[in-house]
Amino acid sequence: MKIGWIGCGTHAGEMLLPQLARLGVKIAALADVNAERLATIAGRHGVAATDCHSDATALIARKDIDAVGMAIGPKQHLELGIAALERGLPVFMEKPPGANAADARKLEAASAKSGKPLVLGFMKRYSTANRIALNIVRGGEFGAPASFLGEYMTAPTYFKGDPDYTGFYLHHCVHYMDLVPRLMGKPVELFARRHELAPGKLLLHVDFRFAGGGLATLVMGTNQSRATPMEWWQVMGDHRRVEVRNVHEVRYFRAPKFKVDDLAATLSDDVDTLVWEPNLTVAANEDHKGYHALLGDFVARVEGRPSTAPEIGDGVAAMAVLDAMIASADSGRAIRLD
Ligand SMILES: NC(=O)c1ccc[n+]([C@@H]2O[C@H](COP(=O)([O-])OP(=O)(O)OC[C@H]3O[C@@H](n4cnc5c(N)ncnc54)[C@H](O)[C@@H]3O)[C@@H](O)[C@H]2O)c1
Repeated sequence: MKIGWIGCGTHAGEMLLPQLARLGVKIAALADVNAERLATIAGRHGVAATDCHSDATALIARKDIDAVGMAIGPKQHLELGIAALERGLPVFMEKPPGANAADARKLEAASAKSGKPLVLGFMKRYSTANRIALNIVRGGEFGAPASFLGEYMTAPTYFKGDPDYTGFYLHHCVHYMDLVPRLMGKPVELFARRHELAPGKLLLHVDFRFAGGGLATLVMGTNQSRATPMEWWQVMGDHRRVEVRNVHEVRYFRAPKFKVDDLAATLSDDVDTLVWEPNLTVAANEDHKGYHALLGDFVARVEGRPSTAPEIGDGVAAMAVLDAMIASADSGRAIRLD
């Protein structure tokens, strides 16, 4: 598979393009408005200067690519995503799919019209630990998820020049607008409360109710150091709960008997707590954050193999929840979701 890639910034350069290379995808062409970034990333991946474009529409017009990838920003994702789909090419797009649900619906319409998939960068679904926990929650023995409790924090670093927090909502919060409904089902009501500790330091408490009756409390904010673990969540069922700490440690609590009076007590496969962590010293280029697995599913989707990659319909759903979260935080009122 040959891909034309638009946006040679930090995320593409450090996370996405190296994983595509591991998957055997040829980076046939690159585009960026920043000539220095373009040259740096082209050098790393052996892309000739003649295959580097300052104008992304010239890359999209090429006849020698099978797909377009992009990691730029909301406005460019909308414009260039539609252009690539209209040109008849499958697209991998980082989040967010535009600036709001209306933009995401335009991308969905372009994907439907062209018959080409638009796969989205919701890699939280693919981190090894999140996948294990998702499979436990959906695996049958867990039963209906009753509650979600979690934190997804960051620091003011990226957002300090953006006092309206648009970037925080679109680039950060959107991930959990996908992950939480994936764990808990369809949200029907949402209430977001906001506390600004100081300009640039925002704390959000978001409450959800789901169609199945479940409840969620999600805390997000820009008031923690990125040098500490930023994510923790737990889903409870009936006498079951699973939690993921720092996207790499899974604990699955079930329903054992008390052991204090049982001198023969041991640990049972059936009822005691299961814990999983990766071996971070293994001599392999493993990506437990999920980018490799997600991009592998994108490649499978483009090549017509079985794939569960998140597509633009998932993006529309996540952006609609995000729009509701912002509207609730702005108005101080609960919002019902259709
Ligand atoms: N899923 C994740 O974990 C994750 C992490 C970081 C960033 N992201 C997403 O990736 C995207 C990029 O983020 P980043 O941190 O790499 O930003 P960045 O600013 O480092 O990179 C964006 C790049 O796009 C280029 N660009 C801007 N307009 C362009 C245009 N019209 N044509 C071609 N190139 C253009 C810029 O010059 C820059 O090099 C964002 O949407 C962000 O939300 C996702």
